[in-house]
Amino acid sequence: MDRDKRMSSGLEFLLFLCGLKFSWSCPRDCICYSAPSTVSCQAHNFLTIPDGIPPDSERIFLQNNKIHRLLRGHFSPNTIKLWIYSNNITYIEPSTFHGFTLLEELDLGDNRHLRSLAEDTFRGLRRLNALHLYRCGLTSLPNDIFRGLRNLQYLYLQDNHLKFLQNNTFMDLHNLSHLFLHGNRLWNLQQDTFRGLQALDRLLLHKNQIQWVHRLAFHDLKSLTMLYLFNNSLVELPGQCLDTLPSLEYLRLNDNPWSCDCKALSLWEWLKHFRGSTSSVGCQAPINMVGKDLKELRKEDFSNCSPTVSESRAQTNNLSGTVNPSMNRGVAVGSGGHTHVVHPSRPGPPKNCTKPRNREGKKKGDNEVHHSKEVMADKEDSFPDFSEGGKHDHTSPDGTVTRRKQKCSPRTTVRPPSGVQQANNKAPLSKSLQVQALFVALILTHIDHILH
Ligand SMILES: *[C@@H]1O[C@H](CO)[C@@H](O)[C@H](O)[C@H]1NC(C)=O
Ligand SMILES: *[C@@H]1O[C@H](CO)[C@@H](O)[C@H](O)[C@H]1NC(C)=O
Ligand SMILES: *[C@@H]1O[C@H](CO)[C@@H](O)[C@H](O)[C@H]1NC(C)=O
Ligand SMILES: *[C@@H]1O[C@H](CO)[C@@H](O)[C@H](O)[C@H]1NC(C)=O
Ligand SMILES: *[C@@H]1O[C@H](CO)[C@@H](O)[C@H](O)[C@H]1NC(C)=O
Ligand SMILES: *[C@@H]1O[C@H](CO)[C@@H](O)[C@H](O)[C@H]1NC(C)=O
Repeated sequence: MDRDKRMSSGLEFLLFLCGLKFSWSCPRDCICYSAPSTVSCQAHNFLTIPDGIPPDSERIFLQNNKIHRLLRGHFSPNTIKLWIYSNNITYIEPSTFHGFTLLEELDLGDNRHLRSLAEDTFRGLRRLNALHLYRCGLTSLPNDIFRGLRNLQYLYLQDNHLKFLQNNTFMDLHNLSHLFLHGNRLWNLQQDTFRGLQALDRLLLHKNQIQWVHRLAFHDLKSLTMLYLFNNSLVELPGQCLDTLPSLEYLRLNDNPWSCDCKALSLWEWLKHFRGSTSSVGCQAPINMVGKDLKELRKEDFSNCSPTVSESRAQTNNLSGTVNPSMNRGVAVGSGGHTHVVHPSRPGPPKNCTKPRNREGKKKGDNEVHHSKEVMADKEDSFPDFSEGGKHDHTSPDGTVTRRKQKCSPRTTVRPPSGVQQANNKAPLSKSLQVQALFVALILTHIDHILH
């Protein structure tokens, strides 16, 4: 007891000499350190939020425990980063985070019994940049739950049980770049489902049960480059849906029960002119088309169909309003340091509606699918490794789960959630801190000697 006291005051004195500002109220079984002030209490079978979290803590790591309730007063409004994923949270008091105007990252993922959230849970979090709610057993999202989150860039809602999204749910998220909704039970996308998402870059909707998409469902998504709709229940998708996406580069439509009759004509036409990367679009009907790829069908296969709007427009050679020339941009993709530049055709100079699909074009398309996988893998690489906690879903474009290659670095302009890279949940102490700690420990043993 006495010895402990001596040790601790000796340590404080030493740290004072070292110029380190340590906070000594650190919860039992946790590790605390400064710059930035951090409390790390992960994987300790905590059933409740431990007492004594210093109020000035900026980063709080509580993942992989068994915490089941979050209440007002558990944390202080100084918190910038809060990880409580992989616990067993069943209830969050609505005011838990009220006044947390500095909070940038909140990870509540993998709390499978959470199921519901109050409408004002995230109210006022105007600095929030990343919100993780994946695998939380959510069956619905209250109206306005994301209201005012104007700084949010990453929203993880995958692997829940969502059947509906309210109209205008994401309306305030003008800065959102990634929206992950895969692995839910969505069955339709309304005109206003994605309203307001003008900065959205990636929309992942694979592994849902989507059967119906409103023709204007994507109308605000002017920055969208990646749209995943594979493994859904789509029989048809009007080409007009995709016409509203001037920046689109990667589209995956495989594993849907596509019907390749006249219903598919507008999509076929759209695909014919799109030179970004697309997946296969396997036909499951009518009987004579089963097993074929919609993209490989010829004009003659639709000879009995009446022309679509875009086709009649093409015939009169009037394409005004369908493309935005300023959107012509390439994307650098590749792996292992090699960079390929893909120039998606649409958006671009007025699309050439008479141009036949040639072999060259098709070959390129296939390669681009490959690249798109790499881009995705690279993107996932830029997230930290949480393999045990299953923090992120590494589902590849095929729907297969891939292990990430550690060596790749992100190549696209979107960065991962801020600060995630510095904070590895396995080794929260930075190198330099570790060295300092070692140094302190060494001196301590000597101090003990001296004090004797
Ligand atoms: C998590 O909470 C639920 C609901 O209270 C409970 O049924 C379940 O046993 C808990 N799981 C664990 C691992 O504690
Ligand atoms: C949106 O994101 C950018 C960075 O991409 C950031 O500079 C800006 O402050 C964010 N917030 C708002 C409200 O636009
Ligand atoms: C969204 O609005 C449409 C009409 O625009 C309506 O038919 C639909 O029921 C609404 N969806 C929800 C989930 O409220
Ligand atoms: C689609 O996803 C479900 C799980 O959500 C899976 O069971 C099924 O095999 C997938 N289908 C295809 C064709 O990939
Ligand atoms: C082309 O179509 C636009 C609307 O789509 C119309 O305003 C314009 O007058 C048309 N131009 C010609 C030459 O037909
Ligand atoms: C469309 O593309 C074809 C084949 O590349 C070319 O011969 C034709 O001149 C192009 N038409 C226009 C209007 O650019």
